Order: sequence, then structure tokens, then C-alpha cells
Amino acid sequence: MNKISSLLRDYHASVFSEHGATAKGVDWNDESELLHRYDKMLRVFDMDFYNGSSRPSLLDVGCGWGGLASRAKELGVEIDYHGVDVVEAMVEHGKATHPEATFFVGDILELKGERSYDFLICNGILTQKHNLPIPDMERYAKEVLRKMFSLCRYGMAFNMMSTRVNFTVSNLYYQNPVELLAWLLAEVSPRVVLDHGYSSLASGVGKYYDFTAYVYKH
Ligand SMILES: C[S@@+](CC[C@H](N)C(=O)[O-])C[C@H]1O[C@@H](n2cnc3c(N)ncnc32)[C@H](O)[C@@H]1O
Repeated sequence: MNKISSLLRDYHASVFSEHGATAKGVDWNDESELLHRYDKMLRVFDMDFYNGSSRPSLLDVGCGWGGLASRAKELGVEIDYHGVDVVEAMVEHGKATHPEATFFVGDILELKGERSYDFLICNGILTQKHNLPIPDMERYAKEVLRKMFSLCRYGMAFNMMSTRVNFTVSNLYYQNPVELLAWLLAEVSPRVVLDHGYSSLASGVGKYYDFTAYVYKH
């Protein structure tokens, strides 16, 4: 397994064993933050670039214990949900609580192209760097995003911490949104929507330091 994926696996396995199936168990601060991010991810179906199947397939990359599947159900968003995570205990929890969905253990970077999904989302893998050098994390993030885009039929959504904030902490990975946008447009797809409007500087609410990007196929 990729060394960053395995570092993230060990970290998240220990967080989950301490906090269980809660917001803290997937390293978000609280329930409202958790739901806010799920709702941002679920907007991937709402953009102008998509008006396809009424029950699209979705791969939730780094699905944790399956919170997004619960949120989609609660909101009545009908999806053919699949979740993949490197932490086995989380996947087992997802299987037990969502028998109608599919959960499997795996590293996104090691998935073969044997099947594609209408959409892929990634909520919270590309936000932490722990003690890794920034260039390593930058390479890893781009590799994950390229892989996700290769597996989607319509589009993908993901979040990253923004460099355009008024507060940072050393174990997180911050991405310049302007540079990311330029990279996405040049190397991934011209169909990009970047939502930076809820970050602390933009919204005045000192709680969110990330942005969400939505990228669609031609
Ligand atoms: C911050 S947690 C968020 C979990 C979930 N998306 C949520 O918000 O409820 C990040 C998750 O990504 C998983 N993860 C990290 N790297 C991964 C990779 N390369 N492939 C699959 N899962 C990964 C971790 O095990 C962890 O469960």
C-alpha cells in the first residue's frame, strides 16, 4: 500500500477505535460540521452538468463508518451507494448498519478500473498531512484526484483545506484554491465548480477552513 495511505489508515483506525461511529470518530469536530460536509458532497448531483439517472451510483472514497450513506437516506437522496475505506473496522460498521449498500476495504490508489461509478466523492482524505512534507502530500492529492476522475462517468467532488484562511494548524494540508483550480482546468477538466464561499474568511463564520470542488466530465 502507498505509504501515505498506510499512515492515514493507522491514524484513522486509532481515532475510530477511540471515538466510534461519531463525528470525532472520523476526525471532524462536531456533528454540525459533519453534516455540513456531507451536504456539500451531496451537491455533486445538483450541478448543471448532470441530469442523468434518478438513482446514480456513487463511490464514497474514504467512507469512514458510512455517515454519508445515513445522511443521504435521511435527506431522501436516492443513490446506489458504495463506500471504500482503508480501515477494516469502519467498513465492517458500514456493512452492519447499511445492508442495502456496498462497503469494501481498499486504497483508492489500488482500485483497478474494472468498474466505474456515476460519481465519486472524497470527504476528508486530502486535508491532513501529519508530519509529511508538503510536496509529498501534493503529489498524493493529485494522484488520488486523477484516480477518482478516471473511475467516474459524470463527475466527482472533494474538499481540501484552503490557504486563504485566517487560521491554520500544522498537521493539516492546505491547498491554494487558485493553484488547484488552474491545475484542474489544465489537466483534469474545464467543467469545474469551486465553492469557497463558506470558508471562514468568506463567510465570517470561524469554523470552516476548507473549500469543496466539483469536477465533471466533458
Ligand atoms: C477524515 S475521515 C472522513 C471519513 C468520511 N468521509 C466522513 O466524512 O464521514 C477520512 C477517511 O479516509 C480514509 N482513507 C484515507 N486514505 C484513504 C485511501 N487512500 N483510500 C481509502 N480510504 C482512505 C480513512 O481511513 C478515513 O476513514
